[in-house]
Amino acid sequence: MSDTLGIALVGCGTVGNGVANVLLSRPERVAQRAGRPLALRRVVVRDPAKPRDPLVARDLISTDIRAAIHDPNVHVVVELIGGTTVAKGVVLDSLAAGKHVVTANKALLADAGAEVFEAARKAERTVCFEAAVAGGVPVIRALGESLAANQVTAIQAILNGTSNFILTAMAERGMSYAAALAEAQKLGFAEADPTLDVDGSDAAHKLAVLAQIAFGVTAKPHEIARQGIDTIDAIDIGFANELGYTIKLLAEAWTGGHGHAGNGTKQSRGTAPADHGAPTVALHVAPVLLRHTDLLAQVRGAYNAVLVYGDIVGETLYQGPGAGRMPTASSVVADLIDLGVGRAQRTFAAAKLWSREGRGFTVEPPERVRSRFYLRLQVADRPGVLADITRILADEEISISSLVQHEAAEEGGGPVPLVIVTHYAATGRFRKALTRINALSTTAAPAVFFSMGD
Ligand SMILES: NC(=O)c1ccc[n+]([C@@H]2O[C@H](COP(=O)([O-])OP(=O)(O)OC[C@H]3O[C@@H](n4cnc5c(N)ncnc54)[C@H](OP(=O)(O)O)[C@@H]3O)[C@@H](O)[C@H]2O)c1
Repeated sequence: MSDTLGIALVGCGTVGNGVANVLLSRPERVAQRAGRPLALRRVVVRDPAKPRDPLVARDLISTDIRAAIHDPNVHVVVELIGGTTVAKGVVLDSLAAGKHVVTANKALLADAGAEVFEAARKAERTVCFEAAVAGGVPVIRALGESLAANQVTAIQAILNGTSNFILTAMAERGMSYAAALAEAQKLGFAEADPTLDVDGSDAAHKLAVLAQIAFGVTAKPHEIARQGIDTIDAIDIGFANELGYTIKLLAEAWTGGHGHAGNGTKQSRGTAPADHGAPTVALHVAPVLLRHTDLLAQVRGAYNAVLVYGDIVGETLYQGPGAGRMPTASSVVADLIDLGVGRAQRTFAAAKLWSREGRGFTVEPPERVRSRFYLRLQVADRPGVLADITRILADEEISISSLVQHEAAEEGGGPVPLVIVTHYAATGRFRKALTRINALSTTAAPAVFFSMGD
């Protein structure tokens, strides 16, 4: 077997301990797949006194990032610190020192992908990041390699396990949002501060990474419209269920023309081709109502799933554990093996990710995405209210598919919930109608709305 590949782990927490465990517990298997031995040479942490995986020898551990990066026996630096400050310095310094980099850091890629990949190309080194999206699910390879002959036309994905766990608990066990979140935290599926998970930011970071691979677009996370699950009320889960739907937090990418017949007739969700004819993609993260029978509706608990539409292959689905020590380590070690084989270096050079050589796609705002909508209003229980609402919807050429209003408990009582499901409408026109509906004197609270997945 040829030369050993030396590895420095910078960060040895949840994922880092898993990576160390895989490398140290099955060196023969890893070497056999990589065609050469992979040796863990250094482990860098913040607090060396903390307990680590028992297989990690104490003398490997230090707090000296520089020494690890500049060790001549280290060929690959695995960045598993997280965040966008120290981690960015580790990645850029490693590349400048001539080391390949493996990272699981979606926030860093979404925020500074262009800078990191430019630095890698300049240094003629490779950055691998299979674990950055959907943890143990090999979706980066699927998109970048296995589906390479296709133009991807749409992506629909459950990319945040915490949100999916909470929504599953609310739908299946009738829990409130607060109780479901507390349980997710108790079981270790949610951070003490779960904001980035439940407000859609984490899914937006991951969607930005997928969009780079599928469409060659560099979308900053703040450019991706997002709505989280933190505003979902148990009442909407109940109404959705009554209508035959499940609510899921989806990260979606729709290219112009996906779901449209050649004559412009709407066939399914998506956007019409742009007037200027150039390829466009709309990116957004939002709760979506999916029919109970949809593939993504059946992804439960902390699992992730990514549905990819390719113009040659059709629809493909990738599903599995989106986080956790060993699933994420599985992806990190696969990257190390690819570097050992020499495959990753060739793919990286050909893919030209985050480069100026874009693939012609531009990001468009989600206003043009056509969808059916679920709309819940709190309205005064008196004559004429429904007529006002339907008139506003009609002004925006939005027709109603169904209506649900339960009888008020007692006559002359307070506002009652009214649920309207629309036929297809452009998001922009739906939002315009919404502004007018919210301004009606008979609307007691801001309308709650979600896209429908069919
Ligand atoms: N957790 C998951 O399931 C998962 C899944 C997919 C991707 N990721 C990504 O993987 C990365 C790591 O996540 P994680 O959950 O493993 O994080 P974590 O458990 O918080 O571990 C972070 C590690 O980095 C070390 N560290 C922090 N600041 C440091 C510094 N200034 N110098 C040296 N070491 C420092 C910590 O040292 P101490 O141990 O001494 O505190 C710790 O070992 C993140 O980018 C995350 O987004 C995580």
